[in-house]
Amino acid sequence: MEEVNVGIVGLGNVGMGTLTVLTENADQIALKLGFRLNVKAVCSRTVDAKQLPAGLENVTRTSDWREIVRRPDIHIVAELVGGTQAARQMVEGAIAAGKSVVTANKELMALCGAETWDSAIRAGVNLAMEASVAGGIPIHAVLREGISGDRVTALYGILNGTSNYILTEIEKWGTPFADVLAEAQRLGYAEADPSADVDGLDARSKLAILAALAFGEKITPSDIYTEGIRRILPVDFRYAGQLGHTIRLVCSARQSPEGLILSVRPSLVPNSAILASVRGAYNAVWVRGRYGEDTFYYGRGAGPHPTGVAVVSDLMRVAREIRSGSPERVSPFAHERLGEYKPISITRHHARYYLRFRVEDRPGIIARLATVLAEKGISVDAVLQIPAENWRDLPFVITVEPTTEQSIREAVAGMSEDDFLLEPPLTMPMEEPL
Ligand SMILES: NC(=O)c1ccc[n+]([C@@H]2O[C@H](COP(=O)([O-])OP(=O)(O)OC[C@H]3O[C@@H](n4cnc5c(N)ncnc54)[C@H](OP(=O)(O)O)[C@@H]3O)[C@@H](O)[C@H]2O)c1
Repeated sequence: MEEVNVGIVGLGNVGMGTLTVLTENADQIALKLGFRLNVKAVCSRTVDAKQLPAGLENVTRTSDWREIVRRPDIHIVAELVGGTQAARQMVEGAIAAGKSVVTANKELMALCGAETWDSAIRAGVNLAMEASVAGGIPIHAVLREGISGDRVTALYGILNGTSNYILTEIEKWGTPFADVLAEAQRLGYAEADPSADVDGLDARSKLAILAALAFGEKITPSDIYTEGIRRILPVDFRYAGQLGHTIRLVCSARQSPEGLILSVRPSLVPNSAILASVRGAYNAVWVRGRYGEDTFYYGRGAGPHPTGVAVVSDLMRVAREIRSGSPERVSPFAHERLGEYKPISITRHHARYYLRFRVEDRPGIIARLATVLAEKGISVDAVLQIPAENWRDLPFVITVEPTTEQSIREAVAGMSEDDFLLEPPLTMPMEEPL
């Protein structure tokens, strides 16, 4: 039985998880493939300090990734390092050396995945990236194969486990954002620098990859309107609850008559919607197709083992292709043509909106705000005010009938002179029951 040889670069959470799955599950994997996946070499900066799983005693250890990329007996390089500098050199170097690449790197793939795919095609090798989005959910395989016969009209996701964990903790305990974040950092659920997670940047990279795959268009992170969760207060969950909703960081890509509207932003989600039940560090993706209608995918968004499974499954697919000599070439990044699904501005988005104000209370505030909204043709749906003791910082909410993001922005700009506002209003779209 001829083996396919793998080199692993990066022995952190994902690298070690991958090695665990590869070694503990080696017999099953060999049975499924009909040949063995053999780890030939591993690489990390501090490789000598790493304790590898049993069975890998004879594997070459190196701290220089070039050694792995250059080795003629390695067929597939797994880039499990992260970042866009060294990782890019590793991926490009491996492809140039005629090796297929498996990566978990959403940041790199969102940044230059399409170009990397083109060079992989030219080199006659494969580039697989299942682990880069929603760790344990095989959403790439679903979009590339499972429902590829459908025509996707909308894709919604909860794609960042850390921010979902923080939101659902605020929801559950009524604890302020800063305290939940500090606790999440203490428990190791959030990075010391939490920006990529709580400001929506990590989710944005993932949405760029998924939307490119779902809609077959070239999409870059800059096409995606992005807003994080830092401004969400416990009281927002109380108001959302009164409206029969909760709050999630929703990633969405939806077709409109003019083009594709892409956003990552906190949104009100009806309690009856399946996305509202996604709690803690879980991820979910909801896809709506013209023919197949709605399908939903749920699972762990990260973690060494779930992500390790995604990497190993990619290694198996690519290894099968290498052995059979019949390359499967379904691009995860189409197309030349920009048309039906061309990204357009979020200002064209049309929805009901939730506007939360923090004001120093005085007579006439609601009338004033309603006037500004009316001037922009926006109809008030409801006004909600939970009794509060501190009249100097009174949070209350206005919900409005469906309107455009553009009108909402103009109305908010029109309120900027009002000195009773303690901060600019927080605006969130209210999603339909998905
Ligand atoms: N963590 C997750 O659950 C998860 C889920 C999905 C996707 N991902 C993605 O998977 C990738 C890896 O994430 P991770 O959490 O495993 O990161 P990590 O724990 O920080 O591990 C990174 C590894 O890369 C090694 N490394 C860094 N620079 C290197 C270089 N120049 N040469 C050789 N090795 C180098 C590090 O070596 P040392 O240990 O020796 O310093 C470390 O072993 C990222 O792209 C991430 O976005 C992670």
